[in-house]
Amino acid sequence: MDLVIVACTAGRQLARQVADHLGTTPVDSGAQRFPDGELGVAIDGEVRGGDAYLVQPLAPPANDNLVELLLTVDAARRAGARRVTAVVPYIAYARQDRRTAAGEPVSIRLVGDLLRAAGVERAITVDPHTPDIESILGLTVEITTAVPTLAGALRDEVDEETVVVAPDLGAVELAEEYAEALGRSVAIVRKTRVSGDEVETAGIVGEVAGRRALLVDDMISTGGTLVAAAEALERAGAAQPLDVAATHGLLVADATEQLDGLPLRRLLIADTLPTPDDRPEATEVVSIASVLAEAVVRLHEERPVAPLEAYR
Ligand code: R5P
Repeated sequence: MDLVIVACTAGRQLARQVADHLGTTPVDSGAQRFPDGELGVAIDGEVRGGDAYLVQPLAPPANDNLVELLLTVDAARRAGARRVTAVVPYIAYARQDRRTAAGEPVSIRLVGDLLRAAGVERAITVDPHTPDIESILGLTVEITTAVPTLAGALRDEVDEETVVVAPDLGAVELAEEYAEALGRSVAIVRKTRVSGDEVETAGIVGEVAGRRALLVDDMISTGGTLVAAAEALERAGAAQPLDVAATHGLLVADATEQLDGLPLRRLLIADTLPTPDDRPEATEVVSIASVLAEAVVRLHEERPVAPLEAYR
């Protein structure tokens, strides 16, 4: 069974890089919008009999990119692909993994239902928002990580005064991974989310006064979490400027303006999704294509992808 990388629209650039690492050329899949708003998809190449890896992060606009992925999976199956794996470096809706109030859905579960209904057998992702993503989606999900790559790119900046800071409780596990990779300790900002674009902080657990902070998170959406954490760090007397590392740089709404207002030295994000052209000045995009390529080749050769230590 031949390995075929299929580049969907949001994953076009990343798919090319993954294919380069594997010494192959991706098959492009295009999407067009009909006058009534429907999406139409066509795979422009041969997938028949193949082991197909469809690269499509669920970047903004998440709904269009999700529907395009579902349609491309269906197209690949009807075109005779023997096996279809969705390479979804960023999974949207993962923050909606529980009902927080009456009348809400569990959106990420429905995303899993849709992927399975379309014919996805397994998926590969990077630093998902929830570690329970595999059981929530109800699929086989291979979880890879950008942490060693991003931490490695920051290693020269990190000294004994640096503290890795989780901007909220949900980021503690990730912060511990950075701390382990860099040999540093962790501090935690106590954050509460007031609304989709408003957060409040209530102090910091851990010693940050006079120390340089490396703020880490799985994603930057509006930038509100980082701004609130940076303000909390300033109040607690942390040294400036700060460094930031986050896997997924969505950078929506006025994130760029907000983050440009912070004393940032370096802001590292991975290329799990297409980065907006208008991004904070301190931004550096680090490629995780080699990590995804390694996961793809292992699956193709029927070798285990886990444990994550394989990537460290
Ligand atoms: C929250 O739990 C996430 O890990 C991120 O901290 C959050 O979603 C980032 O969103 P924003 O940039 O809009 O604050």
